[in-house]
Amino acid sequence: MNIDTLLVRSGMLHDSKTGAISMPIYQSATFAHPEIGMSTGFDYSRTSNPTRKALEDTMALLEKGDKGFAFSSGMAALTAVFMLFPAGSHILVSDDIYGGTYRLFEVIYKTLGLQFSYIDTSNIETIEKNFKPGITKAIFVETPTNPMMKITDLRLISTFAQEKGIISIADNTFMTPCFQRPIELGINIVAHSGTKYLSGHNDTLSGFVITDSPQLSEKIGMIQNTTGGVLAPFDSWLMLRSLKTLSIRMKKIEENAHTIASYLDSHTAVTQVFYPGFKNHPGYTIHTSQSSGNGGIISFYTDNYQRAFDVIRKVSIITFAESLGGVESLITYPKTQTHAAIPEKIQLRSGITDCLVRLSVGIEDIHDLINDLNQALS
Ligand SMILES: Cc1ncc(COP(=O)(O)O)c(C=O)c1O
Repeated sequence: MNIDTLLVRSGMLHDSKTGAISMPIYQSATFAHPEIGMSTGFDYSRTSNPTRKALEDTMALLEKGDKGFAFSSGMAALTAVFMLFPAGSHILVSDDIYGGTYRLFEVIYKTLGLQFSYIDTSNIETIEKNFKPGITKAIFVETPTNPMMKITDLRLISTFAQEKGIISIADNTFMTPCFQRPIELGINIVAHSGTKYLSGHNDTLSGFVITDSPQLSEKIGMIQNTTGGVLAPFDSWLMLRSLKTLSIRMKKIEENAHTIASYLDSHTAVTQVFYPGFKNHPGYTIHTSQSSGNGGIISFYTDNYQRAFDVIRKVSIITFAESLGGVESLITYPKTQTHAAIPEKIQLRSGITDCLVRLSVGIEDIHDLINDLNQALS
C-alpha cells in the first residue's frame, strides 16, 4: 500500500466492533479482566492502551519497522532508547544535533556512566577512528542535522554498525517516513520528535521509537512500560488525526521551502543557505539517494548579527518561536534557543554563529511568505 493511503487509514483498522472511521479515544487507565488469568489484551494504560496502540501500529507500518512505541515527547522517546545501554558504554554521535539531545547525553547520561563522541558521521574514516572495540555500543545520527542540515549516509552507517555488531539509531524528525525510511536502509532504531511534522499543528507534544527486530521491540517495550513516559489516549488520537494529512502537508511545505530557499540564496543580505535540496549542498547526492524529499527546514547566515535580529523582529506572518514542522511558518535563533544547551565553542565548531537563523516553512501562501521575508530582510 502506498504511504499516502496508509496515512489516510491511520487507526482505521482497529475498531472492528463499531466500525468507527476515526479511532475512538479509550480514556481509561485500566481495563476489566474477564476472569482470573484472563485479559482482553489491555490491562493498564501504561502498558498498553487501544488508542495508543493504533498509533504505535501505524508508526511501525509507516517506518517499515517491527514495532512502534509512543512517548509523551521526543525527549522521552530518546531517553528510552539510551536506557538500552549499560554504564560504561560508548556511543558515537553526529557532531551537529538538536541541543536538547546533546543536553540529555551530557547532563543525564554522562553522569549515569555513558560516554559520547561527537564526530562527523558523514566521514567513514572518522567513524572508524573513534570506534572503541568492545566499548562502543551504538551510533546515533540525525540526517539532515538540526540546524546545519548536514547529511549522513544511512546505508553506510547501517553497514558499519552491522559489521561491528553495534546498534544504529537515526532521528528521523526532519524527514518523516514520507521522505525517508531509515529501517529500510538497515538502521535498527528510528526515533522521532512527533511534536514536529507528525503532529504538524504546533499543538501536541509526542515522541516515537520504531524498532527493526522483535529483540529490540521487547527491550524498548519493557523500558516504556517500566519508566512510563507514554503518550496519553487523547494525544494519541490527535496524532492519528494529524497523520492522515502528513503527506499533503509535507508536499506543500517542501514546495514552499524550495521557493524560499532559492529566494534567500539570491538575497544580498544572506551569505549562505543550508538546504539539502540544493545541488551544491555537499550532501546532495547522498541525501537524494536515501530520501524522496527535502523537508521544510532552511538555515541561513545573514550578513551580520544585527540583520539576524532584525529579520526575527520584523517578520509578521512568520512567527518567532521555538519549534518546527507545523503548518505555521516559524523562525528560530538556534544560538540562544534550540541549541542554547551546547557550549559556545562547540556551537561555533558546528557553524551555529550569531548570524544563523533557522526557518521552518509552513503551508501559507508562498507570496505572503516571500513578501514577509522581503520586508524583514530590507
Ligand atoms: C531533531 C529533534 N529531535 C528531538 C527533539 C526533541 O523532541 P521534543 O521537543 O518533542 O521533546 C527535537 C526538538 O526540537 C528535534 O528537533
